Amino acid sequence: MSQGKTAGQGAAAKELRISFTLNGEPATLEVSPSERLLDILRYRLGLPGTKEGCAEGECGACTVLLDGLPVDSCLVPAYQVRGRRVETIEALDPADMAHYHARGMTQCGACTPGVVVTATWIVRHPELLETHSIRELMAGNLCRCTGYDGIIEGVEDELKERGRAAGPGAHRS
Ligand code: FES
Ligand code: FES
Repeated sequence: MSQGKTAGQGAAAKELRISFTLNGEPATLEVSPSERLLDILRYRLGLPGTKEGCAEGECGACTVLLDGLPVDSCLVPAYQVRGRRVETIEALDPADMAHYHARGMTQCGACTPGVVVTATWIVRHPELLETHSIRELMAGNLCRCTGYDGIIEGVEDELKERGRAAGPGAHRS
């Protein structure tokens, strides 16, 4: 094996040290360039609530909040969260999950963590509903069970319960 090839392989495997805020707490770890945010959450940081479905940015099962915005953690290289703020389903209020379950937003549960993370983003930002419907904002989260109506109604109810107007775009289909 040539010297050059060995050096190149070493560079590819180099670990990067990153620090970021995870669910309100500081986190620091070494990551390889190929690790995804989803991997470090589930397998290195003890947060298995974020699920893997398609692994290619289609289903939304792996949704987390990055600096307050929903992202597919299967598409985010772990090193890109350096200095940023990550929130997972584990950080959200368990009471919210119970509310959503009671409202029929969950059936098999495969999509539920991602759905609830996106729903949380909408409930935190009702101004989004001035220009988008709940259905549009939830379009990145696929669900095979509910037909989506239960999800949409669950978000509407949560907005009402918190005294937040759903806005003119909320009911557009
Ligand atoms: S697992 Fe990430 S979008 Fe499907
Ligand atoms: S509840 Fe089964 S996929 Fe959504």
